[in-house]
Formats: sequence, structure tokens, C-alpha cells
Amino acid sequence: MTTPLPVLIDCDPGVDDSIAILLALASPELEVLGITTVAGNVPADRTLENGRRVVAWAGRPEVPVYPGCTAPLLGPVVRGKYSGAGGLGGTLLPESAAPAERDHAVDVLTRHLAAAIAESRKITVCVLGPMTNLAVALARDPSLAAGIAQVVAMAGAFSTGGNRTPTAEFNVLADPHAAEIVLRCGAPIVLAPLDVTFQALATPERVQALKARDGRLTRTAVELITFYDRNDPARYGEPGGPLHDPCVIAWLLRPKLFGTREAYVTVGLQPGLGYGQTIGDFFKLTGETPNATVLWKLNAPGFFDLLWDRIAAL
Ligand code: RIB
Ligand code: CA
Repeated sequence: MTTPLPVLIDCDPGVDDSIAILLALASPELEVLGITTVAGNVPADRTLENGRRVVAWAGRPEVPVYPGCTAPLLGPVVRGKYSGAGGLGGTLLPESAAPAERDHAVDVLTRHLAAAIAESRKITVCVLGPMTNLAVALARDPSLAAGIAQVVAMAGAFSTGGNRTPTAEFNVLADPHAAEIVLRCGAPIVLAPLDVTFQALATPERVQALKARDGRLTRTAVELITFYDRNDPARYGEPGGPLHDPCVIAWLLRPKLFGTREAYVTVGLQPGLGYGQTIGDFFKLTGETPNATVLWKLNAPGFFDLLWDRIAAL
């Protein structure tokens, strides 16, 4: 068996973050070095608590979960709309008995990336929420980018328009300055924008397929995803909520499930309707070198087979 890929998961759980964490923990191809949390879907104390509960529920309480930034670098605080007040819908996951980690997410990212550079290794950083933690680490020490194999981020929206404003996707809207810092850092960047995550629609038929698998965690996973089902066929073409964040992990496991495009991506930082918009130059109109691989097409049946199989096996 090949050596597992070392990954850090930076997130704001969140129902779809939690499903993404499950997928990562269920996958022997990945070595989850740690989970750093950030304010996003819900305030930072809650994303930390939810992250701790998710790893405990997954039977992996030894995976450290760290507290992170509590507010964006600049601009207004924005919270999620679709994961309920506590971030995990109505589902009550058991508390974790693991001792609380005191190290801050920014220091944890810094420590891992600096160690990777010192040992001529690289680490993959998965970002499933606002990019504040990684941006602060990179602003403090831009040389850390050399330790990053790739940043794979659920972020942005191009042809679909936004999900929180007509132009902006939530994770970028919640900290556009952080997204801009990360996009400029020089490490390879892979974005999973709404254009691809809207194809990861957890329709009732697909959720039924998870229900039909007999795993230790499937009943609760179905409960989480069903809460998150927004029944918004007008927007998505079918009922069901998009499982945005698991697309990031699926890219690491099965890149062939995705079609991609290269683009030079910047972020709208001026107040107004363009605030938090990701602007993609897909046709080299600006003359700028592309700074991101953008996931664009998803083999949705293959994605759900992978996701459900792994969750059911945990
Ligand atoms: O826009 C989708 C993103 O925001 C996902 O990361 C999801 O967790 C939501 O809060
Ligand atoms: Ca998220």
C-alpha cells in the first residue's frame, strides 16, 4: 500500500464539513494530521465543539481538533444559514472525552508546514470554511507556502452566481481578504466552487442509498444530511442539499471524478454587490498566469458511491 497523503483539514462544521471529515477519516489513502476550526457556519466556539464531536462520533478521538480564528480579517461577520443554530441541525452528537487542544489553528498550521519544509516534505491543506486561519499563517510567514502540496478549498462561484449574495459564495464572502491572500500565496490551489458542488446534490434517492447501507454511522449521517436537505428544486433542479465540502476530500481520493479548468482567480474586495465575488479569467484575457485549478464537472453517481461506501464502512 502507498504511503497515505498527509492532510490538515481547516473547517467550520457545519453539516457538510462533518460529512467531509467522515470521508477523510474513513479513507486509508489520507493521514489526517489534525483538524483546525474557524468561525463560519457558526461561531468559533461551536465549530470547535462540533469538530470534537465529529471525530469522537467517527471513533477517532485521537485526531486533534484545534481552536482557530473567531472573526474575518476585515469586513462583516457572516454566519451559515443551512446547518441550524448549533451547526449540526437537530442532531446531538455525543460529547468528546478527549482533552481539549489549546494550540491555536494558526500556530498548528505554521508548525506542520515549517516541519514539512525542514524535512523536504509537503502537506495538503483542505479548507472547508472561510480561509482566515491559513491566511493569517501565510501573512505571518509567506515562506510557509513552500510546505504546501496543494490547498484544496471549497470556495467561490463563477457561472452559478453566489449562494449568499448574487455574486458571492459563503466561504469567500465570510472572509474575502483571507481568500485573496491564499490565492496569491504561490502554492498550487484547487478550488471546489458552487459550479461543481451544486452537482453533488443529496437527492432523496441518493440519501435512500445511504440509508440502505448498513453501517454504524449511517443512521445519524442520514439524519444530518436530511436536515440539511433544503428542498430547493427551483435553484438546483432537484430536491436535496449540495454536499459542498466532501467534494474537496473526494478530489484527493478520486480526481478522475472531476473535470477541471485552469483560471486566474481574484476576489472582489470593494463594498457592494461584488464583495466576495470570485472573478475567474478562464481564457487568459488578463494575461495573468492561472493561479488555480477549478473543479468544474462532477461524476455525481461515482461521487456518491464513494462517499456512501466509505461512511458505511466506518
Ligand atoms: O457555500 C458553501 C460553504 O458554506 C460550505 O463550506 C458550507 O459548509 C457552507 O457553510
Ligand atoms: Ca464549510
